[in-house]
Amino acid sequence: MRLSAQQIQQFDRDGYLFFPSLFTPDEVRVLTDEVPALYAQRRPENVREKTGDVVRTNFAAHLYSYPFARLARHPRMVEPIVQVFGEDVYMHQFKINGKQAFDGDVWQWHQDYGTWRADDEMPEARAMNVAIFLDEVNEFNGPLMFIPGSHKQGVLDASHDTSTTSYPLWVINHQTIAKLVEKGGIVAPKGPAGSMILFHGCLVHASTSNLSPWNRVSVYLSLCAVSNHIRRFKRPGYIAHRDFTPIKCLPDDCLLRDYDVPLPWKNGTPNEEQKAA
Ligand code: SIN
Ligand code: MN
Repeated sequence: MRLSAQQIQQFDRDGYLFFPSLFTPDEVRVLTDEVPALYAQRRPENVREKTGDVVRTNFAAHLYSYPFARLARHPRMVEPIVQVFGEDVYMHQFKINGKQAFDGDVWQWHQDYGTWRADDEMPEARAMNVAIFLDEVNEFNGPLMFIPGSHKQGVLDASHDTSTTSYPLWVINHQTIAKLVEKGGIVAPKGPAGSMILFHGCLVHASTSNLSPWNRVSVYLSLCAVSNHIRRFKRPGYIAHRDFTPIKCLPDDCLLRDYDVPLPWKNGTPNEEQKAA
């Protein structure tokens, strides 16, 4: 899939692009069918909500789940990113966020590149965030919110919040958010399962809790230009990957047909990937 000149311009201006229904219901089903078994596993990659046993996020499923290993190589997702960066990309982070009905907690206002720079020593903001909806996203189940144009600010000051949710995050203060929103407003792309968003590593984003009876499972990926690979292994390897091998795309029908893909962590997470190096 190639982006048009107009889409590239729009990405540069707003910091994101939305592709409603990019994947078909049959393709999405292959992925959603796999999620309960992944969330049921007792492995370090499952981070649970602070209120109980409900999974908030699952890391690195592309290394131990066959359908997600194929999604990680999907040309509809990878090719536009290679086009934007003009070079090969590798998978920096792979997560399946639960945002489960009634239990899904907030994600505070933040930029992802702030963390990649501070923790992982990623040289530049040359990594793309991707969200793929596995459930419908509507105004009630905690849609992802963006401040359009906020990526133009570069890295903003942030403080490390270790108490609001079960997952520590570098968050941006409310005064800064209010100023940015005055200028850019807030948008929340909503749509059917199978929709995809591409968004800039410096785009300021957040989501509220999910008080609705509908799950909002979404896959969040970060694909980094290979020459811009991280320089420090401060976070576990299942959160910030240390394998910089360029992604080789599978054919476009890879979610519906069998293709051979490696599953190196099928029998467990290697010890050296569970801690700081
Ligand atoms: C994230 O920013 O990584 C996740 C946001 C969300 O799941 O809404
Ligand atoms: Mn984020």
